[in-house]
Amino acid sequence: MPLTTKLFLMKRLSCCFFFFSLITQVLAQNTAPDINEELWYKNCVIYSLEVGTFRDSNGDGTGDFEGLTGQLSYLDALGIDAIWLAPFQSSPKLDDGYDVANYYDVDPQYGSPGDFAEFMYQARKHNIRVIMDLVLNHTSDQHPWFKQARTDKNSRYRNWYVWSEERPQDWNKGMAFPGVQKETWTYDKKASAYYFHRFYKFQPDLNFENPDVRNEAQRILGFWLNQGVSGFRLDAVPFIIDLPKTGAEKPEHMYELISEFRRFVQWRQGDALILGEANVMPDENKEYFGENGDRMHTMFNFYANQYLFYGLATGEVEPFKKALTDTKKNPGTAQWAYFLRNHDEIDLGRLTEEQRNKVYQAFGPEENMQLYDRGIRRRLAPMLGNNRQRLEMAYSLVFSLPGTPVIRYGDELGMGDDLRLPERIAVRTPMQWTNEKNAGFTAAEKPFRPIISEGEFGYQKINAAAERQDPHSLLNWTANMIRIRKECPEIGLGDWQIVEVGVPEVLAIRYNYQGKSVMMVHNFSKEPKQIQIPAQANTDKEIFSLIKNNKLTAANGVFKVSLAGYGYNWFRVGSAIR
Ligand code: NOJ
Repeated sequence: MPLTTKLFLMKRLSCCFFFFSLITQVLAQNTAPDINEELWYKNCVIYSLEVGTFRDSNGDGTGDFEGLTGQLSYLDALGIDAIWLAPFQSSPKLDDGYDVANYYDVDPQYGSPGDFAEFMYQARKHNIRVIMDLVLNHTSDQHPWFKQARTDKNSRYRNWYVWSEERPQDWNKGMAFPGVQKETWTYDKKASAYYFHRFYKFQPDLNFENPDVRNEAQRILGFWLNQGVSGFRLDAVPFIIDLPKTGAEKPEHMYELISEFRRFVQWRQGDALILGEANVMPDENKEYFGENGDRMHTMFNFYANQYLFYGLATGEVEPFKKALTDTKKNPGTAQWAYFLRNHDEIDLGRLTEEQRNKVYQAFGPEENMQLYDRGIRRRLAPMLGNNRQRLEMAYSLVFSLPGTPVIRYGDELGMGDDLRLPERIAVRTPMQWTNEKNAGFTAAEKPFRPIISEGEFGYQKINAAAERQDPHSLLNWTANMIRIRKECPEIGLGDWQIVEVGVPEVLAIRYNYQGKSVMMVHNFSKEPKQIQIPAQANTDKEIFSLIKNNKLTAANGVFKVSLAGYGYNWFRVGSAIR
């Protein structure tokens, strides 16, 4: 046989061998495509913000879409995947936009529909998704539907709200804002009837028993999907689906309504997300996620969040571990969203009085820091005494929990709060961009809301421009943490277990996914701790820190890890890279 033919045959053979071994390797690893990897919310970092407090482009003192669009590169560089946009539709803003007066527009204060469209386009260019807050439970009392409903008994909108000719017995029960709100049924002279409002009295509840209201809700969802949003943060879900006439305190619920929303949204846009605000007990979760995961894709884990704060306040981690375990089993592709602070008070309503008092003592000792008989209206940095190590531990923790991390604008800088402002506005002050006048937020003489201008949280000290230049800043730390979170898709996609490490103040979680594992350890105590992480037989020989430059080898079946007070570490098992 001539040499060239021999060479040709050898090449063919080695080629066949190569493909054969590739196929056997693939089969051996069983890396069949995992449909869950298509679910973008499984491993995305969400950033919550309000247009009005983010950046003002036209010098009128209020943030707007053009200002926000200009800062997309900042958000892109931070590494976030999605923006959760607080309500931005026309509103008298008696509840900061959660009192909607027109579902189909953009509040002119924030810009034109064109500015919104441009923002959506630019966000897409930056690969940033937009999730919009949608308030369906109630409208503003200035909404034309309510105006017609209250003045004309025969109006088609009358039945869009919940009325009673008589004052219901539980007229002063079931308030969402106890201490501030006095009743849930208010008499309306124009209507000659009482109307139901779960929240403030200028927020009449819509009647979701009425098919016309359900149809309209679908139109609203469809409208905004058409504008390019990737999903909705659905406000106040337990109250959308409740039947107030069955009792304001413990009403019956129309859970099927959530399935209806999900079917509609998913049919219109296959990958659209419903992220629900539902602060419910673990035994109710399956009603909200659906038996087969066919209702909400994700919900904030308010239940575990309260025990997380209890752990941060006391160093006792056991109740938080229990809460994580009690909320572990999610149906289908459902997944939790985890957060530290949001735009509201921290709700501690599910803790025992003794537990709540301990959290108050540590984080909100003054009456002015507490709200609605259940929570604390402060930002994280002041609560944690602006202790950098403690802040890092808390954020590292939230990035490592089994779900989607949600962070709040300004927390990446360590912004503070302004307790002189009413209720929850204390934690909604304008973003601090620079050390120039008005923090670079606006060129107006007077911003629409005060900017934190004094003390350790004043914009002169805490601002994005200064932190950008400082390699050790919280801003750069956060960006790095987000990068590390993204290198660990095991968190959103894998199975997880709490690992016992012999120290009650330390939480250790291990994630396994397709033969890869990561582990995260967090010390809730201010004292340094030594822990022993059990190595899984045969597989765990070495673990590699993703945070520090170190590698640990198992000895006698354990990895010995030292943690500083409020220390934390992330490890990859077996290799420094995936
Ligand atoms: C929950 C929102 O988070 C809160 O800010 C608002 O006041 C109520 N829902 C009423 O919409």
